[in-house]
Amino acid sequence: MKLLDKHGALEKNSILLLICILIVVSIGGLIEIAPLFYLNSTIEKVKGMRPYTPLELAGRDIYLREGCYNCHSQMIRSTRDEVERYGHYSLAAESMYDHPFQWGSKRTGPDLARVGNKYSDLWHQEHMAAPRAVVPQSIMPGYPFLAKTKLDYRLISQNLRAHQIVGVPYTDEQVKNAASDLESQVNEDHDNFEGFEKRWPTVVAVRDFDGNKKEITELDALVAYLQMLGTLVDFDLYEEDDPHNQR
Ligand code: HEC
Repeated sequence: MKLLDKHGALEKNSILLLICILIVVSIGGLIEIAPLFYLNSTIEKVKGMRPYTPLELAGRDIYLREGCYNCHSQMIRSTRDEVERYGHYSLAAESMYDHPFQWGSKRTGPDLARVGNKYSDLWHQEHMAAPRAVVPQSIMPGYPFLAKTKLDYRLISQNLRAHQIVGVPYTDEQVKNAASDLESQVNEDHDNFEGFEKRWPTVVAVRDFDGNKKEITELDALVAYLQMLGTLVDFDLYEEDDPHNQR
């Protein structure tokens, strides 16, 4: 009974009650949040993940600028229907270099997390110019101007640098040579191609992505980005012991 008498004081004094509620709630909060600061990482390391190349990063910026995320998600859920339609469910590590991430929450069009290498570059060129030319029932808008607009990559080094500051492990060499590396990814004959291969030793697709060798367009960057999506992690390495993925 004594304890209940004391509780009466709380019930009659709203400020005191509020303070006590805050104390009790913050204990729960601390227990949940504090351990996260002592973990080195909450993201499992996954083989194959690398930061985006300058060209892919430029393509990603076009994806953001055009608002593709309004209709496309990039996050495959671990439910069976999703895995059967799109492939292995998305891993946290697959968006660890995304600032901001592109999970999205709206799917007017399909998920794009694993669209890389699903179609040819030519398919993408035609689809971006006029979606209904390749998918007659499509309601996606066309973006024909991308193939005609020269890519503006004057600030690409600064872009990589900004990502470096927020924790993406670009080397200083990669930051410094971002512009020439961007040019090298669409042109094997570039003067600095050897340097590009040295700075980007992991698998990077090198080719002219927009079907126009004369200039580097916004479509080059966007297609380079799309063709890389979901291709970095080799799931054959993981598939066997994965109960979710019974394809
Ligand atoms: C108004 C909604 C909408 C917007 C905005 C949009 N899309 Fe789509 N997208 C769709 C729809 C619907 C489809 C399915 C039909 C088709 O293939 O055209 C699609 C299909 C796609 C596909 C083929 C996916 C697959 O697996 O078959 C790609 C790639 C794609 N969109 C890329 C983009 C990019 C890049 C942008 C931004 C430049 C964009 N979309 C903007 C609606 C949209």
